[in-house]
Amino acid sequence: MEFYMVVVLCLMTVANSATDPNDWKILYDFKNGLDNPELLKWPLHGDDPCGPPSWPHVFCSGNRVTQIQIKDLGVKGPLPQNFNQLTKLYNLGLQRNNFYGKLPSFSGLSELEYVYLDYNGFDTIPSDFFDGLTSLRVLALDSNPFNQSTGWSIPDSLAKSVQLTNLSLMHCNLLGPLPDFLGKLPSLTALKLSYNRLSGEIPASFGQSLLQILWLNDQDGEGMTGPIDVVAKMVSLSQLWLHGNDFTGTIPEDIGALSSLRELNLNGNQLVGLIPQSLASMQLDKLDLNNNLLMGPIPEFKSGNVSYESNSFCLSKPGVACASDVNILLDFLGGLGYPFKLASHWSGNDPCKASWLGLSCDSNSKVSIINLPRFNLSGTLTPSIANLDSLIEIRLGGNSINGAIPKNFTELKSLRLLDVTNNNIGPPLPEFRDGVRLVIDGNPLLDGVHNRSSPSPSPSPPMISQPPPRNSSSGSRRPSPPRTGSVEVRSQPKSSRTLKLLIIVGIAVAAVLVLILVLLFIYCCKKRKGTLEAPSSIVVHPRDPSDPENIVKIAVLSNTTGSLSTKTAASSGSYNSGATESSNVVESGNLVISVQVLRKVTGNFAPQNELGRGGFGTVYKGELEDGTKIAVKRMETGVSASKGLDEFQAEIGVLSKVRHRHLVSLLAYSIEGTERLLVYEYLPQGALSKHLFHWKSQELEPLTWTQRLIIALDVARGMEYLHSLALQTFIHRDLKSSNILLDDDFRAKVSDFGLVKLAPDGKKSVATRLAGTFGYLAPEYAVMGKITTKADVFSYGVVLMELLTGLTALGEERSEETRYLAEWFCRIKSSKERLMAALDPTLEANEETFKSISIIAELAGHCTAREPYHRPDMCHVVNVLAQIVEKWIPINDESVSSSGIDLNVPLAQMLKNWQNAESRKTGHSCLEDSKGSIPARPAGFAESFNSSDGR
Ligand SMILES: *[C@@H]1O[C@H](CO)[C@@H](O)[C@H](O)[C@H]1NC(C)=O
Ligand SMILES: *[C@@H]1O[C@H](CO)[C@@H](O)[C@H](O)[C@H]1NC(C)=O
Ligand SMILES: *[C@@H]1O[C@H](CO)[C@@H](O)[C@H](O)[C@H]1NC(C)=O
Ligand SMILES: *[C@@H]1O[C@H](CO)[C@@H](O)[C@H](O)[C@H]1NC(C)=O
Ligand SMILES: *[C@@H]1O[C@H](CO)[C@@H](O)[C@H](O)[C@H]1NC(C)=O
Repeated sequence: MEFYMVVVLCLMTVANSATDPNDWKILYDFKNGLDNPELLKWPLHGDDPCGPPSWPHVFCSGNRVTQIQIKDLGVKGPLPQNFNQLTKLYNLGLQRNNFYGKLPSFSGLSELEYVYLDYNGFDTIPSDFFDGLTSLRVLALDSNPFNQSTGWSIPDSLAKSVQLTNLSLMHCNLLGPLPDFLGKLPSLTALKLSYNRLSGEIPASFGQSLLQILWLNDQDGEGMTGPIDVVAKMVSLSQLWLHGNDFTGTIPEDIGALSSLRELNLNGNQLVGLIPQSLASMQLDKLDLNNNLLMGPIPEFKSGNVSYESNSFCLSKPGVACASDVNILLDFLGGLGYPFKLASHWSGNDPCKASWLGLSCDSNSKVSIINLPRFNLSGTLTPSIANLDSLIEIRLGGNSINGAIPKNFTELKSLRLLDVTNNNIGPPLPEFRDGVRLVIDGNPLLDGVHNRSSPSPSPSPPMISQPPPRNSSSGSRRPSPPRTGSVEVRSQPKSSRTLKLLIIVGIAVAAVLVLILVLLFIYCCKKRKGTLEAPSSIVVHPRDPSDPENIVKIAVLSNTTGSLSTKTAASSGSYNSGATESSNVVESGNLVISVQVLRKVTGNFAPQNELGRGGFGTVYKGELEDGTKIAVKRMETGVSASKGLDEFQAEIGVLSKVRHRHLVSLLAYSIEGTERLLVYEYLPQGALSKHLFHWKSQELEPLTWTQRLIIALDVARGMEYLHSLALQTFIHRDLKSSNILLDDDFRAKVSDFGLVKLAPDGKKSVATRLAGTFGYLAPEYAVMGKITTKADVFSYGVVLMELLTGLTALGEERSEETRYLAEWFCRIKSSKERLMAALDPTLEANEETFKSISIIAELAGHCTAREPYHRPDMCHVVNVLAQIVEKWIPINDESVSSSGIDLNVPLAQMLKNWQNAESRKTGHSCLEDSKGSIPARPAGFAESFNSSDGR
């Protein structure tokens, strides 16, 4: 090789050829380094690269190489590191090949104007690559795995390339914030940085840029953040793609100023607030607002292609205004910058129906209390709240609200309490009428203000206006300046400690009395016939009390002290297992059933009673003597052995607290030796998977679209509860269609949760042993074992896809392309034709249903976003689905639920209810007079219910 090179160089010198010898040498280095140089069709030796005729793909000017154009040729290999010695190069086209290895530095190529290196496999980009590229106009480096492990950022030296018009660096591991100078490059018209790992905000400098195309979409990791206000100043924009990030704040009001804008993608962010009218009036070719937290009404859009699914709108019909209360509350929220937590909850058109977070309503379904203490709220209070006449209390303590309390808050007729403790409220302080308690301490700017605000002519009113204590406190008042009657500042009077004590005691007593009254009231309203005495221990005997094997103990704790001990089983003594003796203290109730009973009712775990196998054990069907069906899960010994008894019982204690209409509830359990049995309610229609995938072989009717929608919503509700409403955060970790069970009305309940380690308090991400099922596993969980509630959201998304397509999550028998449902579905979901073709053939999709189908498809995609951060919370999913279900299916959720047990009520109360129901029925078996609901209701346990302690 060396020899050959020398010969060539000699030849060149001798011939005094046209081509610069160094250029020639670099071309040779280049060719010889390739794995498949033959593709270039360059001559072996002799002929001059610059010709005439010049080599294929090479162009020269004089004796210097100025262009190499090898686009899409399948060339494979590295580039020589001395490439930048081709100093006259002005146009380089190497795109769409298989170049690999380190990209040489291009520094000093001062004549280079066009560089296309995109769609190759270069794995390293040197940091001096961009130095001195003073003539650069177009640079494309997309789709190269540059510096994969560390990522890289655009060096500042590119700022000198002032003629740059097009910069395309998509999908090449760019990291960190967007450099400020990009907004200042005077010629830049197209900036495409999609699919990287950019973070941070859009720099303010972009406001001056003349960019026509800005693509920042789909950043991995946390994504880009901050507000997008600056884009409203980028008047040349025609395409703005910001989707798949974490942008926050509102859509700028003045976005309508972008008169050249054609495409605007804002989907998949955390944008909040109302859709500005100026946006609705724009005539865009495409506008995508899906998957944000936009609120308020949906305007009538002038644009052709608009989508806005998965937001927090009040109504789903465009052009219809929200209810006036909703408008007021949204305005209030706007003053506080639409905090994320509230924006995700405050959707729909009735704050009282869906009971919005932080609000309470009165009996007329009007908002009576705003209760948002310590919600990290900042911003100001809007005057419009004064129009919410029904307000009685406003509690906003412990936030960072600033500005003044609007004057017209004083017009609130029913207001009794305004608590803004520990904020940053400033003067002036409006003067409220008597009877309004204003609590303002902890607002430094108000110190001393209340003194001035109203010299009160009458004798100083009491310090705490409600309930007004006797005015015998004159002694303590002496040093205090006059105040408005309503202001409370807890400046402690120095004397009369006893008086203070008295007041406190008085208030405490009153409070306790009120509490008791309220409890009584609630209890009576809810359960007409209920009485207050809660049982402290209940022994339940199914059918025949004389049969010792039949004794089922359900001991519940619910005395007023809330202490946690439970009593042991029947005093008959015949029920006596060592294990349960030691299980007297379980956190929230103790539901023990004897192993013998369970053996008996399942035919000694007979194979024909097997309902299914899976997560941690086998499930058997059992039938109690009275006909009540139950499902008994027999834990595999491996599982039970690995857990201590204490741990198991602790988990049972927690599990038994998780009660929700859409979660299969744990009814009882049993421990004996290594045997661990869990008793669940029995759902007659079995697993969703059966109805989706095996309906033919099982001779079932395929599920209708309506049924599927309702199932999707049911499951979402159950999961939402598990994630956020239960006392502790639960992560299911194995949500799948075979863990979703159906009752006779095809309402769904999620099962099999909680058998894996629970999320510790306050920490929702645990790296842990893998549990779960392939095809449903979120990537971060499968790869790193990182588990958050968002892993469940992913699995939920896969279930949605199964509902849509009737295909299993993982089909080994399917083609490579369609094997993983989640992967395949995400590719096809945005094309209407392909989506239609992928639908379960049993669904008759017409134009009408297609609307809801495409919303669900979109939602499924959102749930299975690669980054957990981009997936919605279950509460968001519930909102989206509830809107569709409401619109498409006129069902009354409440009426449907009444057939089962209302699992929202505490266990003690539940037992009480059964008892009441039973006593009304005078010993009649409930089997005969109610058909579908029996299996969902463990009435058998309550059959010959006897609440006396022990007997
Ligand atoms: C890419 O990685 C290489 C080697 O790790 C490093 O020298 C180089 O500076 C990185 N490139 C950039 C632009 O940071
Ligand atoms: C540069 O970007 C503009 C859009 O602003 C586009 O029309 C043009 O084709 C691009 N030029 C090249 C060479 O990619
Ligand atoms: C809407 O978008 C689709 C694809 O994005 C396009 O084919 C169609 O022409 C657009 N419709 C209008 C009215 O612009
Ligand atoms: C409170 O809000 C600020 C910004 O408004 C944020 O930086 C901070 O993390 C928030 N704190 C909590 C506990 O949410
Ligand atoms: C409260 O004051 C604002 C202006 O300060 C006004 O626009 C609004 O209508 C007032 N609201 C009520 C209920 O008076």
